Amino acid sequence: MSLSRRQFAATPLALGLGGLSPLMSAALAQDGAAPSLGGAFAAARMPFGAAVTPMQLADPKLAAHIAHHFRILVAENAMKPMHISPREGEYTFAGGDAIADFAAKHRMPLRGHTLVWHQQAARWMFKDGEADVSRAKLIARMERYIADVVGHFKGRVFAWDVVNEAIVYDEPEHAADANGFRLSPWRTIIGPEFIEIAFRAAAKADPDALLFYNDYETQNPKKAAAIVQLVKDLKARGVKIDGVGHQMHCARIQPSLADVEAAIDAVASTGVIQHVTELDFAINDRVQGTAVTAVTPELLADQAERYRSLMDLLLRKRMVSATLVWGISDAHSWLNGWPKPRVEAPLMFDRQLAPKPAYHALMDVARKYSA
Ligand code: XIL
Repeated sequence: MSLSRRQFAATPLALGLGGLSPLMSAALAQDGAAPSLGGAFAAARMPFGAAVTPMQLADPKLAAHIAHHFRILVAENAMKPMHISPREGEYTFAGGDAIADFAAKHRMPLRGHTLVWHQQAARWMFKDGEADVSRAKLIARMERYIADVVGHFKGRVFAWDVVNEAIVYDEPEHAADANGFRLSPWRTIIGPEFIEIAFRAAAKADPDALLFYNDYETQNPKKAAAIVQLVKDLKARGVKIDGVGHQMHCARIQPSLADVEAAIDAVASTGVIQHVTELDFAINDRVQGTAVTAVTPELLADQAERYRSLMDLLLRKRMVSATLVWGISDAHSWLNGWPKPRVEAPLMFDRQLAPKPAYHALMDVARKYSA
């Protein structure tokens, strides 16, 4: 895809985000399908997409749903190190390639998620036989992995989440250093400079890709400040960082919109691009809540208003240049099983792929901002 970085930052629509007018895309809707959500957001100049899996794309009904409603994609799991590199020197690119092919066929930009994370990592990287790997060897493995993987998807992935979830605040269960850096194997074995090393390797492997730092609860004021500091430090050291991804896993009573707005403003002050990368709204009170026993109309109405007010904020501010939801329907959400099996319905399509109140609220807000 020949999309320049500048184009994406400035005019998302110029990105080949369908290139279809909303009217044309509505005309292309399958019989009986609800109008395209991604089409409505394209008219509001907000690329809108979803996390998908290769299995979904292989199912004609789900593939049609994805092609119709979404305009930008990310692999929910298929491009994570655990799946791409089960053993040293071995790569399994089939899943990622299937998603890249689908994205190219439907002219959807593809985000790459993720290169360096403490979860779903390629565990072999941290070990040398029974012992912990040395710092030098882990750096070499990380650099090699990034060169190979970013190189493989070069020209097909326009933005990479280079480092995911490296900062921790207000989570006593997760250890962090004095600067808020999570004590992951990356941080512990390499030191805090693992982030800089990862970004440098990614820039070398694909100088045209947008390079992101991605994290959850970015609206936590301490975490937002730490992310801003990280971006500034990297820039001061001449490291290429283009964007910050706000995962935006939300729930019935979190987060506060004022905190979200403050975090977006703070990140904007550094001059980087921002994406909302993993949006969902749990109907439980908290992202990890388990109290809900039934999906009620009241909960769905409340959820719709939360989607509406968040997207209204994003469209009003115009500081976030793409929004992706984490899953294609309630049947496909990770929140059904995390942190344990529970009653959830966090997306805008129900288990039969039918539009929920959240879909209608999102369509309303997209129309409000369509000029
Ligand atoms: C989740 C996937 O949705 C699950 O299928 C998988 O079992 C675990 O990872 N933050 C991230 C995503 O950055 O990669 C996670 O995705 C959800 C939280």
